[in-house]
Amino acid sequence: MLSRKVADRLAGMQTPFYLYDMDLLRLTLESAVSMAARYGYQLHYAIKANYDPRLLEMIRQYGLGIDCASGNEVRCAIEAGFDPAKIVYAGVGKKDDELRYAIDQGLFAINCESLEELDVLSALAVEAGKKVTVALRVNPDIDPKTNHCIDTGQADSKFGISYEEILEHSGHIRQLPGICVRGMHLHIGSQIRELHVFEYLCEKVNVIVENLEKAGFQLEFVDVGGGLGINYDMPENEPVPNFASVFAIINSHLRVGDRPVHFEFGRAIVGECGELITRVLYNKTTATGRKLLIVDSSMTELIRPALYGAYHNIENITSKEEKREKYTIVGTACESTDKFDENVSLPVSKRGDLLTLKSAGAYGQSMASRYNLHDLPRSVYSDEL
Ligand code: LLP
Repeated sequence: MLSRKVADRLAGMQTPFYLYDMDLLRLTLESAVSMAARYGYQLHYAIKANYDPRLLEMIRQYGLGIDCASGNEVRCAIEAGFDPAKIVYAGVGKKDDELRYAIDQGLFAINCESLEELDVLSALAVEAGKKVTVALRVNPDIDPKTNHCIDTGQADSKFGISYEEILEHSGHIRQLPGICVRGMHLHIGSQIRELHVFEYLCEKVNVIVENLEKAGFQLEFVDVGGGLGINYDMPENEPVPNFASVFAIINSHLRVGDRPVHFEFGRAIVGECGELITRVLYNKTTATGRKLLIVDSSMTELIRPALYGAYHNIENITSKEEKREKYTIVGTACESTDKFDENVSLPVSKRGDLLTLKSAGAYGQSMASRYNLHDLPRSVYSDEL
């Protein structure tokens, strides 16, 4: 873990901040890209996981495309130098302005998530004198066995179009003048650690692709989304996610002929390279005897614990104390749910000590807010220390 190695250098810095290990990001990208190359898979980075410009620059150098969820994400990707022909754009609620902008950029595909969106997109494309490539985002009704807050592919989810609905309306979809359906897309959820879930995904995709073809669609590519999880419990044991296994599973179970297969990983690319570095402000014991460590960051820097009950491994990187204590670690925001974790065993920690919240590279800085008018967290990079 980087922060422990460079703790001396971090000690004098103003906190809180995100610390990015650029060597680990490089290793992760090398692994993802070389494993994907074995099977000819196309990789897109889900930019929502982290928009940091230096991270984006390195991701671009490794040749990944981008997966976006808003017009501004598309704009950010293009401004960061990504080729629009490698950008996919999904999202349940694309606004007209966002669609108009996306139509003009000539993206690889717009992934549509409702019948009504297909109608609107077609009309806007006709208005612009264009025909846009569309992938249908299908809701496959799969339980990804992850935190329920971040699953996206079960029947009742707001994401994707039900497969039955697509088949029922296939004639209508195929004759829409402004669009051409060339792909199918799905994304079943995030932080998937039970990799056999990807086997079910393949089985569903095989059936869906076969039946969409029977219904008259000519599918030229398949996008199986992202979702590969990381090891939040013990990040040191698995700093680079298991791309080899997920690709091997997809390769042995997916039957889509020679159609290119696309992936959209966010967390697996950037999750482990980022840590949130924060400083202990105060010790305090509640009337019930609970020992609190109040630190100088909060849910405004890292909302995952407060929003999903997500776990981040926390360490004190500067304490030299032998004795340990159990702490509830809380932040500065005026919210009772602003708590990073409880019952955390740490060396006795005092004002001024630095803590790290590990595995915070994905959905950390990108979900930061200015609640309580907190400043947005800044980035510190390992190669600039
Ligand atoms: N593709 C689509 C269409 C998505 O909606 C997402 C994530 C991804 C790809 C990338 O998924 P990943 O590879 O990162 O699992 N804020 C939550 C996660 C929300 C994920 C949203 N969609 C968290 O902090 O856990």
